[in-house]
Amino acid sequence: MEAWQMKTLKEFDFKDKKVLVRCDFNVPLSEEGTVLDDFRIKETVPTIRYLADNGAKIILMSHLGRPEGKVVEGLRLTQIREKLEEYLDLPIKKSEDCIGREAEELINKTNPGEVLLLENLRFHKEEEENDDNFARELAKSGDIYINDAFGACHRSHASIVGIPKYLASGAGLLLEKEIKVLTDLMKNPKKPLVAIIGGAKVETKAKLINKISEVSDWVLVGGLIKKELDDKKIPLTFPRKIVVPFNNLEGKDIGPETIELFKEKISLAKTIFFNGVLGRIEEEEFVKGTEKILQIIIQSGAFSIVGGGEMVELINKLGLIEKFNHVSTGGGAMIAFLSGDKLPGIEALK
Ligand code: 3PG
Ligand code: MG
Repeated sequence: MEAWQMKTLKEFDFKDKKVLVRCDFNVPLSEEGTVLDDFRIKETVPTIRYLADNGAKIILMSHLGRPEGKVVEGLRLTQIREKLEEYLDLPIKKSEDCIGREAEELINKTNPGEVLLLENLRFHKEEEENDDNFARELAKSGDIYINDAFGACHRSHASIVGIPKYLASGAGLLLEKEIKVLTDLMKNPKKPLVAIIGGAKVETKAKLINKISEVSDWVLVGGLIKKELDDKKIPLTFPRKIVVPFNNLEGKDIGPETIELFKEKISLAKTIFFNGVLGRIEEEEFVKGTEKILQIIIQSGAFSIVGGGEMVELINKLGLIEKFNHVSTGGGAMIAFLSGDKLPGIEALK
């Protein structure tokens, strides 16, 4: 398979090697700055454990939020470190900056099996500019580069596409799993396949809707998407596969009749893909439609793939994460991947 032109963890000898691991710890934060959902952090644990068990000196890197090249105190990775310590049951050191003397010293003091977390990469504007010197600066302290940041693979940033120019590189377990599940969804799904596309911003979803229509039996869309498809006269490749809500409470949620209509299709499915919530879920009363559909998916027993930032947060809050076969850590990255775009982060590993 095309995606496997890249190396996976099993192909490396990590013993005593300094391994730079790009993670996507870009988690949602509350207004007070606390982590609202740590799913992305949890999902990197298997890779970090694997590396620790195999004698690597582990250097973790990530961005958080959009500090636009400046130090923003509220976007330090302090809480990420706390969560990682909790999940890994290991003490984790953190640098004050991702490059420079202090980071270098901490990297050199990291022993096999130990973990160091570098500070937010986006405190340097060079990260998003994909600056070559910055990439080299990051790369110079490592022996091997592992990308486990599926959620950020649609970004051509220094830590994603720059570093692998200078180091032996491969995919972590999370990235490998995401590529495998999402490739199977598009190439080899158990049929019938029902895709459910909610959210807003039809611009980012139109390509996905058309692409996934090629392999789906039905594509159920949320109220806002339907409205935008109509308003903007977006051309659909398989209009007869699209199922739209009856009544959409002005796009705030789907109502009981639509839930019944969607249920009819979902009950027939062997595979279900669900991206983007179906209502304005920030208001409690409009969570119902999405929650109902999640329950119907669980009851259907079909192979289920769900994703999108808001969706994952909701599923986690409802305590339903374990009920789905695959919960993707990707938002924009997952949409781009399923739309058939080449993700720069994945290409850089080939
Ligand atoms: C995401 O959450 O989409 C990724 O972490 C990338 O972050 P960005 O959208 O700020 O580039
Ligand atoms: Mg994003």
